[in-house]
Amino acid sequence: MFEGHDTTASGLAWLLYNLAHHPHYQERCRQEVREVLKGRDVEEIEWEDLSHLPFTTMCIKESLRLHPPVTAVSRRCTEDIALRDGRVIPKGIICLLSIYGTHHNPDIWPEPQVYNPLRFSPENSQGRSPLDFIPFSAGPRNCIGQNFAMAELKVVTALTVTRFAIRPDTGRPPRRKTELILRAEDGLWLLLEPL
Ligand code: HEM
Repeated sequence: MFEGHDTTASGLAWLLYNLAHHPHYQERCRQEVREVLKGRDVEEIEWEDLSHLPFTTMCIKESLRLHPPVTAVSRRCTEDIALRDGRVIPKGIICLLSIYGTHHNPDIWPEPQVYNPLRFSPENSQGRSPLDFIPFSAGPRNCIGQNFAMAELKVVTALTVTRFAIRPDTGRPPRRKTELILRAEDGLWLLLEPL
């Protein structure tokens, strides 16, 4: 339940929050979805349509960077690990690896607090290590549900932005709260206006 539901709920909530704060990106997603649907009702969105939403995908990735639902993972070293600077993490030690910290490292992500989906354009992604963006962790125990999660995020975004204009509720700004996943204290409040 936790791996499959709380994570996508967090990812989706923060994505809608970021789109609410950036109406021009929200509008670009809306236009992209409408173009892909070519007059069909959004409820008829098909699996194949999801691979034709590049800008929406960039918005989702940037949201998972800025607000990673899983902020850290831990691993017990099964062998000594030599770091580049010569120090060694001994076998048996449990390491906590910060996904949030990696995603906010200014050496990798200039102005890390800024929501900018264009970071994930093909040109801007060139030369970036796959380990710079790890919302689903990495290695043999990474997330088995990541493709499903991305599909779910795309479908819900398509269904939401084509039906509603999303605006922030400026009277109730969220406070980030890290539990097992990244939540908002007292909920994440947005205003939805039917289109
Ligand atoms: C945005 C949504 C999601 C995020 C950010 C996410 C993130 C993660 C992360 C970071 C891990 C690695 C945990 C660790 O290394 O200790 C993980 C593992 C896992 N995830 Fe996801 N996940 C998401 C959605 C899903 C979905 C939809 C499913 C199932 C349908 C799922 C099933 C799992 C399972 C079973 C594992 C454990 C894999 C293993 O230990 O070998 N996740 N997820």
